[in-house]
Amino acid sequence: MATDHAIGIDIGGTGIKGAVVDLGTGELVTERFKVRTPEGGRPSDILAATEELLVGIDVLTDGTKLPLGVCFPAIVKHGRTLSAANISDEWIGLPAEELFQNTLGRDIHFINDADAAGYAESRYGAAKGVDGLVILTTLGTGIGSALIHDGVLVPNSELGHLEIDGHDAESRAAYSAMERESLSWAQWAKRLQRYYSFVEFLFSPDLFVVGGGVSKHHEEFLPLLDLRTPIAPAVHRNNAGILGAAALAIR
Ligand code: BGC
Repeated sequence: MATDHAIGIDIGGTGIKGAVVDLGTGELVTERFKVRTPEGGRPSDILAATEELLVGIDVLTDGTKLPLGVCFPAIVKHGRTLSAANISDEWIGLPAEELFQNTLGRDIHFINDADAAGYAESRYGAAKGVDGLVILTTLGTGIGSALIHDGVLVPNSELGHLEIDGHDAESRAAYSAMERESLSWAQWAKRLQRYYSFVEFLFSPDLFVVGGGVSKHHEEFLPLLDLRTPIAPAVHRNNAGILGAAALAIR
């Protein structure tokens, strides 16, 4: 495997996915490996599942231990996970990077999942070459956010937890809220309108990028939004975390 390759692993609430990425093109150069996220999302179980996934990937890299980036749905500061919005509380304050490094026997860069996705879109996707401030949001179980200014990531923005109308924003506007409350696209779009207008007011971005699995249905809800800021669907959707984690692994 070439030296401009790295492994990206994306740990989510339902699945753990990983692949080898060509950092020049931003393409996956192996199949995408996937295991289910263990029930409860506890650190030891997730670590064991990640180890299992990595065995499959390592077989394809002829024994070369490629740089490895891992992204995760929490605030990550100096390798520690500092929050646990939709995962086990055991992650709060955990030296996750060190723990994974010791068990997996290689250098690891641990980062927030939305930051990884935002970085991937800025380097290889919908926000490539965009000057100024890009805000990527992922609409899934929660709302993740990434702030990228002139291609530089400002990590851990956590804009899914803005308090809007007395509610934690993601509890009303994440895709999971639409599913939980059986909202129509139009009903959900009203909540997104409130959310994005507020973020727009706070940051005056140059571009919004909308990621998460639901972004493949962007035609159902993005045209319903009325914003000053252009808003575009993510290009890499479910692979963005893998791409960004891999790209950030060697920075
Ligand atoms: C978490 C973020 C994460 C987002 C998307 C939020 O609940 O607080 O850290 O990026 O969900 O997974």
